[in-house]
Amino acid sequence: MTRLLFVCLGNICRSPTAEGVFRARAAQAGLAVEVDSAGVAGWHEGDPPDPRAIEHAALRGYDITAQRARAVTPEDFTTFDRILAMDASNLDKLAPLRPAWVRGAAQPELMMNYAPDLGVREVPDPYYGGVDGFELVLDLLEAASDGLIAELQSEGRR
Ligand code: 4NP
Repeated sequence: MTRLLFVCLGNICRSPTAEGVFRARAAQAGLAVEVDSAGVAGWHEGDPPDPRAIEHAALRGYDITAQRARAVTPEDFTTFDRILAMDASNLDKLAPLRPAWVRGAAQPELMMNYAPDLGVREVPDPYYGGVDGFELVLDLLEAASDGLIAELQSEGRR
């Protein structure tokens, strides 16, 4: 069982969407995973996802209403096998959160590494923008989730 943590800034738009999309698509692919999400900032601790993220996810059949925001913790670096950051700034902010005593555990990486054909390095922050931003987040996360699922399945076969 692979444990994956999706990370963005506030944990109310991109990473809850990533968690919901990845969970649904992994289940569809028959892949056993445990998924969670967190923010590099704790501003929205305990909040449900942004209503726009909930609405656009629901339009594609993903229910993310039960999720609640939390900040990344030091324990996350030992609990999770993979930590997927939505953008380069999130990735930079994860580095100092990683406890010095953690060895050989999850090295945070960019989620969009798993959809190399798109040529997109980051999932753009949709918080201050319009509905198109939330649709783009879903497009990017569906593609990267499928790429990551394929990689996990090929690891399992090795
Ligand atoms: P997220 O989006 O990192 O995708 O959850 C944001 C959510 C909240 C804020 C910024 C980005 N904020 O400034 O409160």
